[in-house]
Amino acid sequence: MKNINYYPTYEEMLYPEKINKHLRQKAIKALNNDELNTLNLLNLTWKNQNNTVRKIVLPPKLTGVKANIVVLLGKYFPSGSHKVGPAYTTLIEGFVDGNILPDKNTVLSPSTGNFGIGSAYICTLMGYDSIVVMPENVSIERHQIIKKYGGKLELTPSCDSDVILTLQKTYELVKKNPSYRILAQFEIFSNYRFHRYVTGNSAIQAVKNLGNEKIACYCSAPGSGGTLAAGDEIKKVFPKCKIAAVEPYESSTLSTGRRGQHRIEGIGDKMCTLIHNVLNTDFVVCIKDEQAMLGLKIIHDCTKELKKLGIDKDTVQYMKNLFGPSGICNIIAAIKMAKQLNLSAEDNVVTIATDGFDRYGSVLKKLNTQYKHIDTFTIKEWINNIFLQQTQDYIYDFRDNNSKEKLYLQKEKDWIKFGHSKKYLDSMKNMSFWDNEYSQIKEYDKKIKALRQK
Ligand SMILES: Cc1ncc(COP(=O)(O)O)c(C=O)c1O
Repeated sequence: MKNINYYPTYEEMLYPEKINKHLRQKAIKALNNDELNTLNLLNLTWKNQNNTVRKIVLPPKLTGVKANIVVLLGKYFPSGSHKVGPAYTTLIEGFVDGNILPDKNTVLSPSTGNFGIGSAYICTLMGYDSIVVMPENVSIERHQIIKKYGGKLELTPSCDSDVILTLQKTYELVKKNPSYRILAQFEIFSNYRFHRYVTGNSAIQAVKNLGNEKIACYCSAPGSGGTLAAGDEIKKVFPKCKIAAVEPYESSTLSTGRRGQHRIEGIGDKMCTLIHNVLNTDFVVCIKDEQAMLGLKIIHDCTKELKKLGIDKDTVQYMKNLFGPSGICNIIAAIKMAKQLNLSAEDNVVTIATDGFDRYGSVLKKLNTQYKHIDTFTIKEWINNIFLQQTQDYIYDFRDNNSKEKLYLQKEKDWIKFGHSKKYLDSMKNMSFWDNEYSQIKEYDKKIKALRQK
């Protein structure tokens, strides 16, 4: 085990200002200069060195809506996405419970990429061997980063159920190797706890001094459904807040049962994940993958046209590298919801950019072979269709009992086959189940602190 004093508690990830000042300064230096230093565990936070949440409030000249669209920026987490947070909480909980030990166990992570990257990275920092089980067709940058962090790859063929195949492969590997341990992001509550506590409260802090300082809507596209859990905390503080789960139109499993192929990496995994709290899902919003891809191209490549909209040049430049396709997908959904809920300039919609542009160069290159010569007229049309004049289509209201029941049935279909009982799934129909999972944070923080005293 590497230096245990660098292992943060949940509380320290939300309030990094509570970390010993000297250590924090060393950690901040390591973030930029020494990526594989264990000190970087102290950088698992949404906050920058001034202890403010990293976010951008999108210019209304881009969104076309009056409400503030606030995007929390995951790209500044070590390893380049916030998925490293739940990878850490899953591993540290397993460690303090004595279930995942570096000298005895190899860590297996089923993932479409960022969770795999995050867990390979965390395993290196904490001295574990790791294997990432992922579909072969995700961007090549993801495979390369996992290898750079010392993770081994097990690739599964890509087809209609690619994430489910990674889960099946993971369970097969564990059967053959009983010392393997799964960081089961789709079904483990350490993922829920990280996002409900750290992301949820960071979102609440991000709207301080902004509009009416409340959150009217939270939009998040589930992969594992971890990030969506932030909504549970937001709703506790702002009960009127609407929570929208976002999915690719082509793989709109939650809203229509569709399970097709799509290009928005990291989301739309063709299931209702075990850790998805259906009780708090008010809307499901579908976004066509072409819109997410072209939105990414606009932000990254069409800076001239964005400046012509009157967006200042520093913002245009800053936005260029902040988002990947799933971040753009969330932004489009946030615009749709601002319209759907008829929100005003006082209202805030919060959403998430899980990662930044750095792992999508190859994706944009591929897109560019499709759109070789684009004229200004076409770019303007894209900007209007995707941002300024985004429509309210494909928004499904899930507040009634029948709609919730649809999601519960999907969950049964997805999880009973992996050994979870109907009784257990039924217990999730009560908020006390989720609050109970959440309340375990205090115990884990105590155990992490106790480790340091050993
Ligand atoms: C790029 C990207 N966006 C969104 C998500 C979804 O996040 P979550 O798994 O917390 O639902 C993921 C998950 O891996 C991702 O990699």
